[in-house]
Amino acid sequence: MRPDSPRLDAELLLAFVLDCPRLDLYLRADQPLNEKERGAYRELVQQRAAGCPIAYLTGEKEFWSLTLEVNKNTLIPRPDTETLVEIAVEQIRKRQNNHPDSKCLIAELGTGTGAIPLAICAELKNLHIIAVDCTADVLEVAARNLQRHESLLSPRNNHIELVESNLFSKINPAAKLDFIISNPPYIPSDTISSLQVDVAQYEPHTALDGGPDGLSFYRYLLETAPSLLAKDGEMLLEIGFDQQADLSSLKQNFPVWKSSAFLPDLQGNDRVWKLGLSQLL
Ligand SMILES: C[S@@+](CC[C@H](N)C(=O)[O-])C[C@H]1O[C@@H](n2cnc3c(N)ncnc32)[C@H](O)[C@@H]1O
Repeated sequence: MRPDSPRLDAELLLAFVLDCPRLDLYLRADQPLNEKERGAYRELVQQRAAGCPIAYLTGEKEFWSLTLEVNKNTLIPRPDTETLVEIAVEQIRKRQNNHPDSKCLIAELGTGTGAIPLAICAELKNLHIIAVDCTADVLEVAARNLQRHESLLSPRNNHIELVESNLFSKINPAAKLDFIISNPPYIPSDTISSLQVDVAQYEPHTALDGGPDGLSFYRYLLETAPSLLAKDGEMLLEIGFDQQADLSSLKQNFPVWKSSAFLPDLQGNDRVWKLGLSQLL
């Protein structure tokens, strides 16, 4: 496999081996590597050349300016998902302005590293986020990320509750949610093997596989979310860059959703779907 950015990758791995910021490499350009460093570097470069993503080699990924632990059980958070975070922050802030005294109750389906709830907590206060994922391995990583970024939680009156649950099966429908947020798996099952090697062979398929047409999680959420949300509740979902038309026709089967809008990222691709149970969003 040919990495898209070989120089950057080489620098990131070398900085990891030398345990220094990447830009410091230029200050230390004439410093030779010792044998242990050379061995460790060679091993990492070989794994990268075989297709292993940099984040799995260094065990970290930056998202919304937060350094997050990742491992082979978790999806590597993508810059694309920052669009969902931006829109979520905007919508939650609007709600908090209208209801300044109540704690905002949010559920996230498929939290992975905890990237989305942590990023939202970095911007806002007074949140209770129930972050669901389906395996304990993934939630262990999320728990360490919550610990690492504890300063975004209790000091800001934010609480992220990690729940191991298949879909929302463990979420109590009596707790009326203000928001449901998700970046669900949305790749059609048959397409996964044709993705780039670093995704297809290294990232967990449970984080990618959206069923035969890629829409299984959206179908589930369109059907299940109305019974979990408050009557003025909203749902904010990341979508694949080419899924807008299919999702628009899917929505016609769920008239309970009174408002629906697709929002673009900076490239102009619709990547976020905003849905509401009331007309006003
Ligand atoms: C596309 S990843 C998103 C991860 C993270 N929220 C992000 O944006 O980087 C989807 C997540 O959904 C989780 N997931 C898959 N199937 C699930 C299920 N049936 N119930 C709960 N979570 C599930 C996966 O483990 C994965 O963490």
